[in-house]
Amino acid sequence: MILVIGRNGQLAQAFQTVLLSFKSSYGSAQYLGRDELQSIDGEIFSRLKRLQPSLIINTAAYTAVDKAETDRDACFLLNVTLPKILAEYCAQASTPLVHYSTDYVYAGVGTTPHVESDPTAPLNYYGETKLRGEMEINSSGSKFLIFRTSWVFSSVGVNFVKSMLRLGAEKDTLSIVSDQWGAPTFADDLALATLQILEKQKNSWRSGIYHLANAGETNWYHFAEKIFANATNQQALKIKLLKPIPSSEFPTPARRPVNSRLSMAKVARDFGIQMRPWDVALMQMLFDQRI
Ligand SMILES: NC(=O)c1ccc[n+]([C@@H]2O[C@H](COP(=O)([O-])OP(=O)(O)OC[C@H]3O[C@@H](n4cnc5c(N)ncnc54)[C@H](OP(=O)(O)O)[C@@H]3O)[C@@H](O)[C@H]2O)c1
Repeated sequence: MILVIGRNGQLAQAFQTVLLSFKSSYGSAQYLGRDELQSIDGEIFSRLKRLQPSLIINTAAYTAVDKAETDRDACFLLNVTLPKILAEYCAQASTPLVHYSTDYVYAGVGTTPHVESDPTAPLNYYGETKLRGEMEINSSGSKFLIFRTSWVFSSVGVNFVKSMLRLGAEKDTLSIVSDQWGAPTFADDLALATLQILEKQKNSWRSGIYHLANAGETNWYHFAEKIFANATNQQALKIKLLKPIPSSEFPTPARRPVNSRLSMAKVARDFGIQMRPWDVALMQMLFDQRI
């Protein structure tokens, strides 16, 4: 049995969708959402011992990047303590652990795609805790895969696509940051690529940190343009003008890297995985979900 930590989040929901048609050799999936994880540091270890999963996929995280600057204890608990406990269990039980991290572990210097061995230097507390979470797993002695992904979107939860469609229905002008670059990643594609990689790990496990995101690159301004151009319900949109602005004109509590480009060379080399371009995934999601 695959134990997915998370139930209603973007990626947890994506696993539920993708596993409707993907037969994993690790078995069917069970989901543990926040209601079942009331006490992360106490009860979860004995829960895992009772469940004895063949694999744990941790999709749970504190992802409110700006709020994390002040809500530090809650962020630390989810992004550091939870992966640490999962990894301790996985090391003891010889259970492989899959975990997700972020482009925000990098400071985002330069304009070329980061490789996994680049120095990390998070600019915000969320990134700092995600990096600490990685380190806890890395040093636990468990079999693990950590996927650093970026700019996740889906038809559920809180994300840029849904925020743009909501704002575009309310306002006729929007100013969008155009100097932060990265790859939007469709949660369903991320779940599917994870399951495909896991099949390749079945006979001999290779632990490591990998980038995993949709192909291509863009900035938030061009991402917004693509969303509005391809939204299925054009009549609902009031938006007439999108203005590109520098990050300096849109101050936020958490600083963000300007270069979030992630090289996919390692995951292609080790697992033969190449995710499709982000804009193709976006168009499919908007069309399939009629949003
Ligand atoms: N979103 C992005 O743009 C982005 C970018 C880079 C990396 N990532 C990483 O990708 C992974 C998946 O992110 P996502 O976008 O799917 O996140 P999300 O939509 O914000 O979902 C967060 C998940 O965490 C769980 N959770 C939140 N608070 C909790 C609590 N107090 N106790 C227990 N569980 C709690 C939620 O549980 P419920 O299911 O019960 O709601 C939910 O399943 C994360 O590791 C994230 O750091 C995300």
